[in-house]
Amino acid sequence: MQPLSWSEIVEKTRDFQESRLLLTGIELDVFTAVGNGALAGQVAGRIGAEVRSATMLLDALVAIGALIKRNDVYFNTADTARFLVAGSPDYQRPGLMHRVNLWRTWSTLTEAVRAGTAVEIPGVERRDDQSWTTNFISAMHSIATRAAIEMLRVCDAGGVSRMLDVGGGSGAVSIAFARANPELRAEVLDQPAVVDLARRYIAAAELEGRVTAKVGDLTHDEFGEGYDLVVLSAICHMLSPAENRDLFRRSYRALNDGGRVLIREFIVGPDRTAPKLAALFALNMLVGTRAGSTYTEQEYREWLLEAGFRQVDRPVADGDFLTGRR
Ligand SMILES: C[S@@+](CC[C@H](N)C(=O)[O-])C[C@H]1O[C@@H](n2cnc3c(N)ncnc32)[C@H](O)[C@@H]1O
Repeated sequence: MQPLSWSEIVEKTRDFQESRLLLTGIELDVFTAVGNGALAGQVAGRIGAEVRSATMLLDALVAIGALIKRNDVYFNTADTARFLVAGSPDYQRPGLMHRVNLWRTWSTLTEAVRAGTAVEIPGVERRDDQSWTTNFISAMHSIATRAAIEMLRVCDAGGVSRMLDVGGGSGAVSIAFARANPELRAEVLDQPAVVDLARRYIAAAELEGRVTAKVGDLTHDEFGEGYDLVVLSAICHMLSPAENRDLFRRSYRALNDGGRVLIREFIVGPDRTAPKLAALFALNMLVGTRAGSTYTEQEYREWLLEAGFRQVDRPVADGDFLTGRR
């Protein structure tokens, strides 16, 4: 990694302004309010804001290239029209609302570094906050739907009769595997509020017959037995090393002989400073969980072998996946 120059360091201390500007635009749904073109007063009325402040916000969005202004009328760009205007088939605002929520937890980074752990109740545990959960699962659904394409390449769904999707969220991975193999039945295990959402995603995919969702606690429950595949997609980073070792032992017990565990994760390099996103994600877990982090390939290998898995593979060098075979 090239060292940052002094001017780059100074520039980065200001980057939060543009990030916050976009997040507020998304939070207030400004892009939908602009629609096919609108004056500042019209946007202000639609988002419930003062004309003065709405004008300042809109002008700044034009300044960073997220809107266009012609003769006092504001317009979406091709990309904001596609991704941020409600009704577009590629609408991404619900998932990005999770980033709006992350802003709040990242604001506690200084305190979390001092305290050694999250200083707010982690969002995933705040059962009172259904909108947090809905946004979070929407964000996870988009990411996991894309990731599942790659997961199917590294872990063939053929020959899998029963799979367990631990902390399966929306069920995106189960849905992809069920589509890839018409004989496959998948169970999504998650928290009560998420199971309700998963059932909606599964119904939308018309897979209720083969993909089911059930309530369970991935930190303590025994998972039963008879599975050919246990999926841990974006789960291990929420947990401490000891919790992961325990999770791997319970996953092992749930599998048939020859069955596999499939892990999707940010896997950080041996000195934990690269890839950059994995190093940053460790902080995302510091501010957002009690004991989560990102872990190295070596740590995963040790924990999986210790749990009893006889063969551990990283199918794509430097990729996000690990498999363990019982
Ligand atoms: C980062 S999301 C990953 C979701 C999904 N596997 C994916 O790849 O999109 C973590 C999931 O674990 C679930 N989860 C967190 N703690 C849990 C617990 N104690 N028991 C069951 N599920 C839990 C969350 O509700 C969430 O759906």
